[in-house]
Amino acid sequence: MKVAFIGGGNMAAAIIGGMLTKGYSAADLAVVEVSPEARVKLVAQFGVSALEAPGAEMARMDAIVIAVKPQQMRAAAVALGPHLGKALVITIAAGIRLADLSRWLGGYSRCVRAMPNTPALVHAGVTGLYADASVPAGDRLLAERLLGAVGRTLWFDRETDLDAVVAVSGSGPAYVFYAIEAVETAARELGISPDKARALALATFDGATKLAIARGEDPATLRANVTSRGGTTERAIAVLDAAGVKAKFVEAIKAAAQRSREMGDEFGKD
Ligand SMILES: NC(=O)c1ccc[n+]([C@@H]2O[C@H](COP(=O)([O-])OP(=O)(O)OC[C@H]3O[C@@H](n4cnc5c(N)ncnc54)[C@H](OP(=O)(O)O)[C@@H]3O)[C@@H](O)[C@H]2O)c1
Repeated sequence: MKVAFIGGGNMAAAIIGGMLTKGYSAADLAVVEVSPEARVKLVAQFGVSALEAPGAEMARMDAIVIAVKPQQMRAAAVALGPHLGKALVITIAAGIRLADLSRWLGGYSRCVRAMPNTPALVHAGVTGLYADASVPAGDRLLAERLLGAVGRTLWFDRETDLDAVVAVSGSGPAYVFYAIEAVETAARELGISPDKARALALATFDGATKLAIARGEDPATLRANVTSRGGTTERAIAVLDAAGVKAKFVEAIKAAAQRSREMGDEFGKD
């Protein structure tokens, strides 16, 4: 499978790294990247070929992943359109809708919208995928295999669900880091040294997540299991509940989804 990436930044590098670990050959991977320094780095780090702009080689690709910022998508797609052959085009940009991408590509509709997240860097990502009904099963499998190199993949039935995926798992690692920061701060304020505060916070998030996955139980049940009446956990949860922390998390994630929809309107309008 020959794959090209348009944009060789953080997410492209994470996916390329994952693909190479999974046994894909660097000789089959190419990156179109505008920055000369980034091109040199990509060649040195991964041994892939790096190009300044899309050209005739794009016609030989089986898949092309557009991995530029949402505000750069239009220009990247317009430049790619004339060189497309048989490739499945996968966009990983937040907010950008398939109808807009297809228009920018000159009416090309073999496209999949994907939303990965940064744990892809350590092969622990999760990617939401959407394609409309005209995209054949073989193309869906191709997208799944490609993004599956860096973690789990989940298909969604409605394109609007991808705005929720951006908000939940795309931006999600930041919410987890935010919570880790809070736990670490508390540990330090309780007199624990910074290195041990970090170790405790990280091991707790890692362990609790692994436990939740292993047990497959509802998180509310798992929480109830460690909350004894009159105990320390109950006191802590009462403080969080009184401050409406859970409701604020929900509100924050809905705000992120709204921003994804706005980005679709803002960057997709022409
Ligand atoms: N980071 C995340 O957590 C995350 C998660 C899921 C999805 N995404 C999506 O992934 C996309 C990429 O994010 P990123 O963090 O990897 O961004 P990034 O590090 O800025 O990478 C994009 C790269 O593409 C280059 N570029 C811009 N226009 C180009 C063009 N027309 N042709 C070729 N190269 C071009 C950029 O160069 P310049 O820097 O010179 O502009 C930059 O090096 C975004 O749309 C984002 O929504 C990101």
